[in-house]
Amino acid sequence: MATNRTFTMIKPDAVEANNIGPILAMMTEAGFKVVALKYTKLTQEQAGLFYEIHKERPFYGELVEFMSRGPIVAAILEKDNAVEDFRKLIGATNPAQAEDGTIRKRFAKSIGENAVHGSDSDENAAIEGDFFFSKLERF
Ligand code: CMP
Repeated sequence: MATNRTFTMIKPDAVEANNIGPILAMMTEAGFKVVALKYTKLTQEQAGLFYEIHKERPFYGELVEFMSRGPIVAAILEKDNAVEDFRKLIGATNPAQAEDGTIRKRFAKSIGENAVHGSDSDENAAIEGDFFFSKLERF
C-alpha cells in the first residue's frame, strides 16, 4: 500500500544557482506539505553512504563528488500517493527527457546534475528520511 510520505533533496547544482525558493514553491504548489526540512552539506563519506545502492554503477564516484561539493536542502514531504506523484513532479532523471512543467525540465542541467532527488519507493522514502531526520525534527 502506498504511504503518504516521500523524501527529497535539492542538490548542490540547484542550490548554487540560487533555486531553493522556486523549487520549494513548485513542491508546495503541487500539494506537498513539508514535514521536515534541513539545509546541510554532506561529506563524501555521507554522500557515498546515501547512494550506496549505486556503488557498482560507473557514475558512482562522480555522483559522490557532486553531492558533497556544496550544501543541499533535505526534506520529507507529505501528500496522498506521495512517492509516485512526486516523481511525476520532478520528471525524468535525464532532464533532456523530462516533461514540460517538471522541476528537472526547468532547473536540471544534466543527467548527473539534475537539481533534485526523489525517493523511488515507499521503502526507500522511509530509509532516506531516517538518514537525515530524527523523530524530533518531523512535524
Ligand atoms: P537521483 O534520482 O538522485 O538518483 C541517483 C542519481 O545518480 C541520479 O539522481 C543522478 O544524479 C545520478 N545519475 C543517474 N544516472 C547517471 C548517469 N548516467 N551519469 C551520471 N549520473 C547519473
